[in-house]
Amino acid sequence: FDQIKMTQSDDIILGASPGNIASAAAMIRDGKRVAFSTETVYGLGADATNDEAIAGIFEAKGRPSFNPLIVHFINTAQVANVVDFSETATVLGEAFWPGALTLVLKRKIDCPVSLLASAGLETLAVRVPSHPLAHEFLKQARAPVAAPSANRSGQISPTTAEHVFESLGDKVDAILDGGPCAVGLESTIIDLSCDTPTLLRPGGIAREEIEAVIGPLEVSDGSDDAPRSPGMLSRHYAPSIPIRLNADKANDGEAFLAFGVGTDAADVNLSQSGNLVEAAANLFAMLRMLDQTKYNGIAVMKIPDSGLGIAINDRLERAATS
Ligand code: TXA
Ligand code: MG
Repeated sequence: FDQIKMTQSDDIILGASPGNIASAAAMIRDGKRVAFSTETVYGLGADATNDEAIAGIFEAKGRPSFNPLIVHFINTAQVANVVDFSETATVLGEAFWPGALTLVLKRKIDCPVSLLASAGLETLAVRVPSHPLAHEFLKQARAPVAAPSANRSGQISPTTAEHVFESLGDKVDAILDGGPCAVGLESTIIDLSCDTPTLLRPGGIAREEIEAVIGPLEVSDGSDDAPRSPGMLSRHYAPSIPIRLNADKANDGEAFLAFGVGTDAADVNLSQSGNLVEAAANLFAMLRMLDQTKYNGIAVMKIPDSGLGIAINDRLERAATS
């Protein structure tokens, strides 16, 4: 039995050879999921510009809600293509990138990164990792790679390829093994999208080091576990028009957001075939699109409360009550 398990992990865990890096990068371009080592913790990566691949990450992690993801780049120039790169960001990037710092910045209007990676927010969390294997992998993927820590939701972050295999072995197409993580702690997250730079999550780079460069940071408070899961804060996107859940049809003036077959009259369908991964991939873009039309509300069909449906419903309930 041990031998069977060994063989399986050998198939999935790829050593850091040029051939393995090339095939892992090709998997990313194919919309697959590849876990990879960074200097902080292992990430569960997918092409950040591919909505369905991003939905697949949430499914694999078993996240009960759509927490926004950190997107990884090879250098500052690539980052500045997709977000508004402020002066403070430039200073922090020069001081700490590549490295264990994540910056939250405003998305550019034409930002090609999936809205699902931002969980619908106007902002994006970005990072340039320093691990040479991560760098080479990102370079060959030729796309920004969104990656949360490569553990199932609620478990601790993995710092070896074996940890990833134990937690997500059946949910990834490959695990790029760069050895044990040198930092072993997630990146420090600084929000630069608000007036005062705000520490959202303490991590691999100490607050004092950052304050030595840009001065005092505000510290995120508010909700109970704000520092650890800023994605749960109320700053999540909600449409400006009311959302009505579990609707059978639209009332006068409402848009109808459908799910599943037999709803041809629907204004918009999250997934005609009733596929929750497809629905997740479409959710934020469709809400945003309907928000920009003439409708005065959005009626949403019932979404099954299983698998990714749990995260979709969590998001819809938040949007409906805000
Ligand atoms: O070291 C790390 O940061 C690792 C490696 C893989 O890069 N990644 C990581 O990702 O720890 P994750 O998903 O486990 O944690 C990301 C955190 C979440 O708490 C999320 O809420 C926050 O980043 N986040 C992501 N985008 C955000 C945004 N636009 N605004 C505020 N918080 C954001
Ligand atoms: Mg995590």
